[in-house]
Amino acid sequence: MSDDLLSLVQSRAGTDPVRFGLILGSGLGHLAQAVDGVAIPYADLPGFPHAAVSGHNPNLVIGTLEGVRVAVFGAREHYYERGNPAAMRPALTLLKALGAEALIATNAAGSLRADIRPGDLMLLGDHINFSGLNPLIGEPTDARFVPMTAAHDPDLRAGLRAAAEAEGIALPEGTYAWYSGPSFETPAEIRAIRILGGDAVGMSTVPEVILARFLGLKVAAISTITNMAAGMSDENISHEHTKAMAPLGAAKLERILRRFLANHD
Ligand code: HPA
Repeated sequence: MSDDLLSLVQSRAGTDPVRFGLILGSGLGHLAQAVDGVAIPYADLPGFPHAAVSGHNPNLVIGTLEGVRVAVFGAREHYYERGNPAAMRPALTLLKALGAEALIATNAAGSLRADIRPGDLMLLGDHINFSGLNPLIGEPTDARFVPMTAAHDPDLRAGLRAAAEAEGIALPEGTYAWYSGPSFETPAEIRAIRILGGDAVGMSTVPEVILARFLGLKVAAISTITNMAAGMSDENISHEHTKAMAPLGAAKLERILRRFLANHD
C-alpha cells in the first residue's frame, strides 16, 4: 500500500484512528449507510478491489457507529472474480494503517447442519481452507509463516456471543469451509466437507482472515445462512437466492454488531 492511499483516505475521512474494520458480505450492504461518516468509492482508491459482484456496494465508509470509529468495506473482491486470493490485501493493509485493532468479516454461506437454517447466523469458530489457495503465496518474508491456531479471536468471539445473547439472537459457532467458487458445490463435495468437519460453506472470508492475521489484526467472522448446502434440501441454490435470503439474517447481524460496538464505546 502506498503512503498516498493513506493520505488520500485521511484527507477525506480525518486522521482519528479507526478501531474496527467491517467487511460486508452479499446483501449486507445497508449497514454502511448507518455509519455517520464519509463514503469513498473504491474506484477512487488505488489498489482497491474490483468488487463487481452484484449485491455488493463498493464504497469504503469511515465514521462512527454506536460511538465507535469504524471503517466499513461495503464490498470485497472474491478469489473467483479474477483469480487473486490476495485481492483484499491493499484494503486490509490500509485498515491496519488507519489504526484498527480488529476486523469483523461477514459473508453469506450455505449450511451443512440441520440445526442451522436459512435466515440463521453462524459465528466462525474456525475454518477449513478447502480451496488450497493462500493469499500469502509469494510473500517473501518470514512473516508469511502465520500461526492460525486461534485465528478466530477468542475475545472477539466472546464479545460477539455476548452481544447476540443480549439481543436474544441465536449465534451458534461452527467451522466455515472456503470453496473457491464461482460454481456452487456438488452434493458429493458437501458430503466431503461435512466429513472433514465443515458446518457452513462459502466463497470468501478465509483469505481475509489469513491476511488479517498476517497484518497483526485480530479477526472474527459471522455467516448469514442463505441456503442449505447442495444436496441437503430441494431448494434451488443460486446467487439470486443468496441475495434474496441474505437480508433475513442481515437485520439480526446488524443488531449484534451494533450491540458489540456499543459495548466497546
Ligand atoms: N455455497 C457457497 N457459497 C455460498 C452458498 C453455498 O451454498 N450460499 C451462499 N454462499
